[in-house]
Amino acid sequence: MPASFLKPALRGFEPYMPGEQPPDGEGWVKLNTNEAPWPPSPRVLEAVRAAVDDSLRLYPSPTAAPARAALARMCGVEPEMVALGNGGDELIAMCVRAFAGAGERVAWPWPTYPLYDPVVRMHEALPSPHAMDEGFSIPRSFFEDEAPLKFLCNPNSPTGTWQPGAVVAEAARTARGVLVVDEAYVDFAPESREDLLAAHANLVLLRTLSKSGALAGMRIGYALAQPEVIQSLDLVKDSYNLDRLAVVAAAAAADDVMYRRDLVEYVLDARGRLGGDLAALGFEVLPSATNFLFVRPPPGHPAAEVYARLRERRILVRHYHREPIDGWFRITIGTPEQHQALLAALQEILS
Ligand SMILES: Cc1ncc(COP(=O)(O)O)c(C=O)c1O
Repeated sequence: MPASFLKPALRGFEPYMPGEQPPDGEGWVKLNTNEAPWPPSPRVLEAVRAAVDDSLRLYPSPTAAPARAALARMCGVEPEMVALGNGGDELIAMCVRAFAGAGERVAWPWPTYPLYDPVVRMHEALPSPHAMDEGFSIPRSFFEDEAPLKFLCNPNSPTGTWQPGAVVAEAARTARGVLVVDEAYVDFAPESREDLLAAHANLVLLRTLSKSGALAGMRIGYALAQPEVIQSLDLVKDSYNLDRLAVVAAAAAADDVMYRRDLVEYVLDARGRLGGDLAALGFEVLPSATNFLFVRPPPGHPAAEVYARLRERRILVRHYHREPIDGWFRITIGTPEQHQALLAALQEILS
């Protein structure tokens, strides 16, 4: 298509580049996109298999009602406080559609999830990033920004850092409009901010079943907020944004509390051990409240080079060629075998 047909606002637009997804079954050690180290729960797989039948001829529930009910039960809220998205990514776009007009600012501390920027531009709103300092704390200017929509990723990606409740409460209290706390990784963090929902009518908690739910391939995200905000999100969703199999998977995953709890326990334990092993190799390892580690290789070993040499060995981690995180890379917590392969390769690369 000639570029001239593209609307002027999108000329020179740089889309979000997801982490590399090599074809299945090629034996890569894939530690780059923060997927779960375990398969989906057997109950979820069973439910999805059972749902592959003639009913796929019919459209799904437009509100993904069974999934909404199960997620509400899981979170201890009413279904009116839950919105569903085709992944958390669609909910991010829905927030921009619902709460930021063309030409209005959308703010976030930077570095953070790189998807916010292109989604905001796509909707002709204005990105308003606020640079974090050396220790990746939230700058004052973020709280002072009068944007009608703000994103605060907590725990943050790619840094893995976590802001305590007082910081999130201040962000909600001082926001002129909606504050979206992106809690994609919250199950690996000390606590979620559900406690703030009752007192803050402008707060949205954004979650996903891609991480602790081991369902990245099904694309299921959900948001928690007071009913009025949820109605605004539902206004701008696609008609049937979760397909029938996703609705079934979401409901089954929400109900399988034990499997999720065991998976999270494994990740926290493996995260501690991998962090220790990387520190012993000379890496700087940021404290993590997520299912990944953000690490800086020892002096004399640029992160871009270590990333490339791991990739030659078919080991994928995530490196961003952007300041101020160019010197770091992100490693998803994987299986013990994947960690062994990673550590052996790093030993070789650094020697
Ligand atoms: C910070 C953050 N928010 C939201 C998401 C959205 O996840 P999904 O679209 O898989 O639900 C991700 C995915 O990696 C993420 O890292």
